[in-house]
Amino acid sequence: MAILVTGGLGYIGSHTVVELLNNNYEVVIVDDLSNSEKFILKNIEEITGKKPVFYPFDLKRKELLAQVFDAHPIDGCINFAASKAVGESQLKPVDYYENNLFSLINILQEFKQRGISNFIFSSSCTVYGQADQMPIDENTPLKMPESVYGKTKQMGEEILTDFAKAYHRKVSLLRYFNPIGAHPSAKIGELPIGIPNNLVPYVMQTAAGVREKLSIWGDDYPTEDGTAVRDYIYVVDLAKAHVAALKKLMEDESNVATIDIFNLGTGKGSSVLEVVKAFETANDVKVPYQICDRREGDITIAFANVDKAKEELQWKSDTSLEEALKTVWEWQKYLKNRNT
Ligand code: UD1
Repeated sequence: MAILVTGGLGYIGSHTVVELLNNNYEVVIVDDLSNSEKFILKNIEEITGKKPVFYPFDLKRKELLAQVFDAHPIDGCINFAASKAVGESQLKPVDYYENNLFSLINILQEFKQRGISNFIFSSSCTVYGQADQMPIDENTPLKMPESVYGKTKQMGEEILTDFAKAYHRKVSLLRYFNPIGAHPSAKIGELPIGIPNNLVPYVMQTAAGVREKLSIWGDDYPTEDGTAVRDYIYVVDLAKAHVAALKKLMEDESNVATIDIFNLGTGKGSSVLEVVKAFETANDVKVPYQICDRREGDITIAFANVDKAKEELQWKSDTSLEEALKTVWEWQKYLKNRNT
């Protein structure tokens, strides 16, 4: 059996491909390299000693996608391929809807026609907006997302729910909290393209001297130290959750619709200042920072209730923030050596 992994050379995708290969799945990657690089494929091979099939094309190209399904016995899909920059999504809404939703629908057309089940979707805790209560469990009401990016995630979930119900298929909607870190081999990680928007890549580049100072967006939030709180989950733990979610779907032999929803986080919130301090301690480096105004659209606090994933997937994240941040620094060193 083969698993189609779209966006399999991207950040979370590449870590998941490694875990799938380690668990003896055949992997077929489709990735258009719009936000990833080819050397990641070679590095996946070095880590696992296995060679995934790779097709470099845009999933909007239906005829090429059909050929992949003709050529391989695809038994499931993990769909990472999507544009994910929140700010850019506000400036280019039509492109975001086209890219994130057309690619999803094209895969579902193939699934529908060929009778394939087992679809895992990369969703985000952004679908909850600023939840009224912490921690956030899967029954927490969804709020209209602030960004077009967030809307594509919510729409993707709805499309997949309708797909599962109408055709009696199995889907898993994985709502990630804040993924961080890199593989312990330091051969794959989050590739910084341009100026990072997310906290940990910015911290990494500031410690490395690529950026002068980290701007901390707001220290007047109603939290313990005034900075905003998130649930930072180590990317390798997150990748393992995909394998667990896939196994669960595949073991379910019933012919009824299954719509699994899982929050994937650690269950623990950390503030921006805590992340900065943990990075400094873990790696014995300094991260210069300044306090700035709040960033528009940011929420105060989000962390997950992960009981459902623990119970139903027998999965939990047990990597500490400091351990995860150590891998970030090793990855930065690898990138630096690669460029010199
Ligand atoms: C962001 C997106 C979210 C997306 C997620 C993917 C926004 C508003 N939200 O989440 O939709 O699913 O990335 O990873 O963009 N921070 C700083 N200085 C920085 C960068 C960040 O202080 O230079 C703070 C932010 O204000 C926030 C925290 O660090 O409080 C985490 O920020 P970030 O890594 O961007 O993640 P989210 O905003 O939670």
